[in-house]
Amino acid sequence: MVPMPVAHCLDGSDYNESLFERIAQDLQQQGYSINHSALPPALGEALWQQLQQMNAAEFDRAGIGREQDHQLNGFVRTDEVCWIDGSSEAGGQWLQWAQSLQTYLNRRLFLGLFSFESHFAHYGCGDFYKRHLDAFKGEANRVLSLVVYLNPGWLPDDGGELVLYRDEQESEGLRVTPAFGTVAVFLSEEFPHEVLPARRDRYSIAGWFRVNSSTNQRVDPPR
Ligand code: OGA
Ligand code: MN
Repeated sequence: MVPMPVAHCLDGSDYNESLFERIAQDLQQQGYSINHSALPPALGEALWQQLQQMNAAEFDRAGIGREQDHQLNGFVRTDEVCWIDGSSEAGGQWLQWAQSLQTYLNRRLFLGLFSFESHFAHYGCGDFYKRHLDAFKGEANRVLSLVVYLNPGWLPDDGGELVLYRDEQESEGLRVTPAFGTVAVFLSEEFPHEVLPARRDRYSIAGWFRVNSSTNQRVDPPR
């Protein structure tokens, strides 16, 4: 009998495994990782469909700071955001994927990542987000930033690049095109970054892994 040919295709876990390992190595060596066409295709498709269904009204003008001290600041950023709570199928798939990245990085790099929060962001024509850090040293909150892009057919003239500054002095920065499926990860306290003005609608998901810095529920190990 002729044996059936074995199909050598990557299933979801192999796919993630090699991407997560690349991210871990990059983080270890340089503190950031940029991966083109890296978002698992089925996840990208689901998130894209979700965006198509979302009403413009679901996006809120983005603010600066945490929910408690949320302030609108049109000088720093002009995008709109919609937090992802997992109530949609695609949102749930996304949170699961982020959780598996969190687990992988914790095992591999002992980062102690404890929770994840994320939102869709919409930059309309002319929208930007000026140079900023996602976390400030000593506040021990946001540790790792994750951004994925959902823009098919992005052209060089469409603007809207993410610019990652590898140190305080660097003025040029590393430019990342917000093309569909690109996955950017960087240490939140280490890399100032900005979003250049977009010349067409630009969609991304930005998320942050936190360490556990809650004081009211913390169970400290006995000394
Ligand atoms: C942010 C951010 C980058 C991007 O939301 O904090 O820096 O490329 N986003 O959307
Ligand atoms: Mn940011």
